[in-house]
Amino acid sequence: MTSSATDILATPPTTNKHLIRWVEKMADLCQPDNVHWIDGSQEEYEQLCDQLVKAGTFFPLNEELWPGCFYARSAPNDVARVEDRTFICSLSKDNAGPTNNWEDPFVMRRKLKQLFRGSMRGRTMYVLPFSMGPVGSPMSQIGVQLTDSAYAVVNMRIMARVGAPVFAEIDKDIKRVVPCLHSVGAPLLPGQKDVSWPCNDEKYIVHFPETREIWSYGSGYGGNALLGKKCFALRIASNIARDEGWMAEHMLILGVESPTHEKTYVAAAFPSACGKTNFAMLIPPEGFNGWKVWTVGDDIAWIKPDAAGKLRAINPEAGFFGVAPGTSAKTNPNAMTTLARNTIFTNVALTPEGGVWWEGMTEKPPKECLDWRGEKWTPAIGKSTGKPAAHPNGRFTAPASQCPSIDSEWENPEGVPISAIIFGGRRATTMPLVYQAFNWSAGVYMGATMGSETTAAAGGAVGKVRRDPMAMLPFCGYHMADYFRHWLKMQRNLSSTPRIFHVNWFRKDADGKFLWPGYSENMRVLKWIVDRVRGRALSKETPIGWTPFYDDIHWDGLDFSRTTFDALQTVDRDQWKQEVMGHEELFLALHDHLPPEMIYERELLICRL
Ligand code: OXD
Ligand code: MN
Repeated sequence: MTSSATDILATPPTTNKHLIRWVEKMADLCQPDNVHWIDGSQEEYEQLCDQLVKAGTFFPLNEELWPGCFYARSAPNDVARVEDRTFICSLSKDNAGPTNNWEDPFVMRRKLKQLFRGSMRGRTMYVLPFSMGPVGSPMSQIGVQLTDSAYAVVNMRIMARVGAPVFAEIDKDIKRVVPCLHSVGAPLLPGQKDVSWPCNDEKYIVHFPETREIWSYGSGYGGNALLGKKCFALRIASNIARDEGWMAEHMLILGVESPTHEKTYVAAAFPSACGKTNFAMLIPPEGFNGWKVWTVGDDIAWIKPDAAGKLRAINPEAGFFGVAPGTSAKTNPNAMTTLARNTIFTNVALTPEGGVWWEGMTEKPPKECLDWRGEKWTPAIGKSTGKPAAHPNGRFTAPASQCPSIDSEWENPEGVPISAIIFGGRRATTMPLVYQAFNWSAGVYMGATMGSETTAAAGGAVGKVRRDPMAMLPFCGYHMADYFRHWLKMQRNLSSTPRIFHVNWFRKDADGKFLWPGYSENMRVLKWIVDRVRGRALSKETPIGWTPFYDDIHWDGLDFSRTTFDALQTVDRDQWKQEVMGHEELFLALHDHLPPEMIYERELLICRL
């Protein structure tokens, strides 16, 4: 470390001795040239963005078209979360369970120390304090990320609450601070010229659940580098939540407001590429005068029982890190307004006017642009090479406060009351448009056995159902079966449980055509769910749960036939027997920790079929 780093360390903006000692220790290990304590100000943000422009990482977009926006391209080998390089290093392998990669924590620490030794040479180490959830909320959690990536810092400033108010919170010394160490793993020799996207071929995204620590090495992209998101708010938080009696879930949160201003909040878990952001920002269709959907969050929910035994949820994030391709004024006008300013775009296409474009954004592609790799792209080139202009995982990082549908309560430190939980997947067959679980334990079974068909974009076999329990397969930081047990246990602390539903927007007819129009029309399903929760809607009992009658759905503004609806809602006993076999496969993998309730629920389902 140089003397300037020592100088800065001498006057840290915190009095927390543990934090200062840890920063010193990590600076000794990583050997950065400089240490910068992040204050979170607008001025500092602008300076960092300027610096990223000079380094060639950022390109400022046309100020008239995209005010306050920047454009970045990652290295082609650093474009997504790396699940096969993600580790849960609990003391015992058994605690990580069969769905997580595990390594002995002592072995892993030794490996990480080797990797991080000198990894920040020639770079600045930023000390970034962040709060997941509103600063000071009893439901919030605090972390400090040490990172050598200014790109990670400016993205985190959008995605979380960062800087001086968080140091002030840390100095009260009443909350745990989760240490998060991040390096892109690309030290610079004296005089060595930097690249625009430094990273390393070798990547390690490591979690130590017992000591609540995160070590991330080699990647600068998304969930690998913005450590508040998947690493903290899901993998580490799921461990904290289990120990403290709350839930850290991969769920959007939205509020449905009726014409009489009655507000009902629901949380919903869908796997990736199933339209979570679109659903969270839904605009009710024709026939729903006076109805509104308000957005609290689009990706993560922390849910906790209040003193009265009712579940309340916060969105721990402050921004949206959304997939750009497919987002348009038609599919999600609220998202388009949100990302129109002060947004960072990564791995989309750059137009000659200094704007951005991605597949699905407009019907007509631009005549010419630079693709996410910086190469010339035209519709003809795209057609002949099959290469898209934007990477399928190209992203926008946009402040939640800019969302036109952001809920008035989205920063309520006590959270919002949750009346319903919705699970959903992409299923061409078997799964009806909507059904309701008979009770909490049947609902936990419903979530635990959730599946979604793999798409061509994701590679591998198309249309194969992959089990993704509660959409948490890549994010549960401990044994998945213990996670089911935790869900079951939660009921004991509740005076009333949210009702649990399953939806499927993707059922197809025999010709492979979608039976349901989706998008804003999903409001019709949401209204039935709200009416069920409020005790106003009837339902029909089926072997799998309660389903709506055709006449229970609000059809104003949509010509939708009874026959098609019946096809959408069909519960085919043979298909369901196959489905239960799929549940069996998952349960076999988890058998040694599986709570008996899951077996009982499966037996009950088989009997009803
Ligand atoms: C996300 C994801 O980025 O689920 O939200 O991968
Ligand atoms: Mn997600």
